[in-house]
Amino acid sequence: MSNSNKVLVTGGAGYIGSHTVVSLVQAGFTPIILDNFSNSDPAVIDNVMEILQQKITCIDGDCRSAELTESIFKDHNISGVIHFAASKAVGESVEKPLLYYGNNLLSLVTVMETMKKFGVTDLVFSSSCTVYGQPDKLPVTEETERKPAASPYGNTKKICEDIISDVVQSETGFRAISLRYFNPIGAHPSGSIGELPIGVPNNLVPFVSQTAAGIRESITVFGDDYNTPDGTCIRDYIHVMDLADAHVRSLLFLTEQPDENYYNMFNLGTGKGNSVMEVLKCFEEVNAIPVNYQIGPRRSGDIEQIYANVYKAENILGWKATRTMPEALADTWKWQQSLKKFS
Ligand code: NAD
Ligand code: UD1
Repeated sequence: MSNSNKVLVTGGAGYIGSHTVVSLVQAGFTPIILDNFSNSDPAVIDNVMEILQQKITCIDGDCRSAELTESIFKDHNISGVIHFAASKAVGESVEKPLLYYGNNLLSLVTVMETMKKFGVTDLVFSSSCTVYGQPDKLPVTEETERKPAASPYGNTKKICEDIISDVVQSETGFRAISLRYFNPIGAHPSGSIGELPIGVPNNLVPFVSQTAAGIRESITVFGDDYNTPDGTCIRDYIHVMDLADAHVRSLLFLTEQPDENYYNMFNLGTGKGNSVMEVLKCFEEVNAIPVNYQIGPRRSGDIEQIYANVYKAENILGWKATRTMPEALADTWKWQQSLKKFS
């Protein structure tokens, strides 16, 4: 990494990107956002600036455009990249695989080509625990076998990891980290930024908070006949601000690497699994609000349970999750209540 503190954040207006931008600034970095707003709202940038009380550079455009990414590297002395930009809806990826392969693979390749051209070495990539599928043994470590992907979306994450690994081995100087997120939840504690699902949410926590807010009548719990203590699926839910901090830590860690070529991947979770019913009950309790729910059939493609072994991130990166699920669900509710600003 050069001595500039400018970091290109692709997809920086999105859910995880916007929170990471806040953490980056607070750690002394200058983020330059590139986002085409295909799954986010420009008002997010205003709210990020309000939290930080300073201006943030945001370029409205597509990171598949080599011309545009090159112009950004030319105009700003970029020293590292955090690459969030991708399409992320699993169901949609099954219906529109070309959209997913096209966006997720070409975005990464274009960004890495540009990095190479400008001699920028350090990359942090958004991967997912989806690369493990339903693991045979829990908790999953980074050595756990990656299963064949259950969706084109999941496959793009596996292929992107492989692209990065191949590039780091063959090109001089690249240093990269893939962060395998478990289930990000929560919002910035100010309630000014959070997850902004477009249309009906697919994910559990946005659906729960919209139900509590009366936007949805009730939430369907997808199956209570799994082989888990209460019969509902288990996931490792992690506060988005903990994830944000992990990105800052990863960038700093890359700059500390003595080796020219470095690649590693880390699980980002809490190490603890919680069931769907536990999330629902925790949300009701911490926010003192009832959430209507009914039990429905299993959702096709869902795995029964997954949670992370987080030892590697703690041991090598020196990062671990510090925020609790009640904190995350209280922050989600605060964000949900401030959402009127966006409608
Ligand atoms: P998000 O959709 O909120 O953010 C992605 C952002 O990228 C959006 O603002 C979108 O407009 C932008 N974008 C998409 N394609 C672009 C392109 N070609 N050029 C420029 N901008 C583009 O998603 P998120 O939840 O913040 O996820 C960020 C990353 O983390 C994604 O790569 C996602 O696959 C990965 N991830 C997310 C989760 C999760 O549960 N949210 C879990 C695992 C991995
Ligand atoms: C899903 C994706 C995963 C992606 C992640 C983040 C699948 C199979 N996996 O993970 O690849 O990285 O989203 O976008 O789609 N649930 C309900 N009712 C609801 C919604 C969810 O009971 O209305 C349950 C689900 O069955 C699951 C849990 O809540 O057990 C979490 O679901 P969700 O938030 O969608 O995340 P994942 O399925 O873990």
